[in-house]
Amino acid sequence: MILSIDQGTTGTTAFVFDSRGELRGRSYSEFPQYYPRPGWVEHNASEIWDVTLRVCAAALERAGADASELSAIGITNQRETTVLWDRQTGEPVCPAIVWQCRRSAELCRELERAGRADWLLEKTGLVLDAYFSASKLQWIFRQQPELLRRAEAGELCFGTVDSWLIWKMSGGRAHLTDHTNASRTLLYNLEECGWDPELLALFGCPESILPEIRPSAGHFANTDPDVFLGAEISICGVAGDQQAALFGQGCTGPGHVKNTYGTGCFMLACAGEERPEAPRGLLTTIACGADGAPVYALEGAVFNAGSAVQWLRDELGLIREAAETETIAHRVADTGGVYLVPAFSGLGAPHWDPNARGTICGLSRGTGKAELVRATLESIAYQSDELARLMGQALEVGISHIRADGGASANNFLMQFQADLSRVRVERPRQIESTAVGAALLAGIGAGIWRPGELPRCLREIERDFVPRMDDARRGELVAGWRRAVAACRAF
Ligand code: G3P
Repeated sequence: MILSIDQGTTGTTAFVFDSRGELRGRSYSEFPQYYPRPGWVEHNASEIWDVTLRVCAAALERAGADASELSAIGITNQRETTVLWDRQTGEPVCPAIVWQCRRSAELCRELERAGRADWLLEKTGLVLDAYFSASKLQWIFRQQPELLRRAEAGELCFGTVDSWLIWKMSGGRAHLTDHTNASRTLLYNLEECGWDPELLALFGCPESILPEIRPSAGHFANTDPDVFLGAEISICGVAGDQQAALFGQGCTGPGHVKNTYGTGCFMLACAGEERPEAPRGLLTTIACGADGAPVYALEGAVFNAGSAVQWLRDELGLIREAAETETIAHRVADTGGVYLVPAFSGLGAPHWDPNARGTICGLSRGTGKAELVRATLESIAYQSDELARLMGQALEVGISHIRADGGASANNFLMQFQADLSRVRVERPRQIESTAVGAALLAGIGAGIWRPGELPRCLREIERDFVPRMDDARRGELVAGWRRAVAACRAF
């Protein structure tokens, strides 16, 4: 059996898969989020560790299995979130700064004014934004020079959440990460596939705090039975959650595209072994090839997608649960010209505009709940479509279909509208937890349980295929309206 740990932004899920790929047990639990100031988001890394331990034990119990029956562990995680801990005690020395946190935006602006944005884009494939780890680390060291001194003295470790969990699970014996997570830090050279001394100097990051980088499938470390479920188990798969989902969806060759519909939307297209020419607004990042080795991918990150549906539920009280939106959206033939742009925390790819604000356009006296709900679901597809168009242009092979996963991919209205808008087939797998599937597959390959070309089929079965059926004229009208709405939300 394989234990797959998906440590996400708001909770950790543990899955136990057997060697045929059947899900035997699963457990999920949320953990506290801290918002000390507007735009700031923190986690307590010790709470992440506690919740992770708890769900792993609970998933095993549900599977009716003992930890000693586990052959391997796969870890996948929220990316970019920055953890700094004491090498001796294994305790965090400050709150973890979450990927969503905007506190280092001014540091990014400083670097932009110094003309470093294009240089960074070329070296790292990333835009200069507070989203990525390096400016978060720089912020910590500027605020607490004592921590910088301790880091320089070799007393501290830095890592994204994968590194933190490996450290804790191995009882402090292993300080490691994988290429996919490293490629999200702004400290990783995309051509050389390693930490880059010039980037470390730019962000004032001492080399001694960095984890060693390994390929995503292979032996990372053994768990320490004294701290982890009483058993020594090999951690054999590690990848950032979006790259794990790409792998879980079988997207390991050029032009294979997945879109994860969660709180945000993350669309990734595998590009293969050659670094692709990224269109402005998209990121280049490291993903996993068929055997888990690093390959290139294009990525577009939409910050608010499913969170807009949560907003309908929690702030407007228009719905009781997200699943209702499908039926409500079908009650009307269209939104009556209403567009909702959920730029609650600015716009991510491809606009990267931190000043944009959420906007509803085109209201009339007849606009009601169904139109607003439908416009919210449609906004998820429009934002994803902007990414798909850019990716299609960038990849010589084009995009023939999108593989969908994540919670909101269960919404049939949204999937059909995506297919119509992007004029591609949208395939939904039977198991929509592709992130956990990816981590389990990487661990299985890393442990030699499965061979790359012979993965259990049940993990990748397609449940439904959505075929485009909207005519071009209608599509053109809708997209033109969306573009006006985006312009309005950026002008506000
Ligand atoms: O880049 C951020 C992403 O990895 C977070 O994913 O699923 O935890 O919201 P999720």
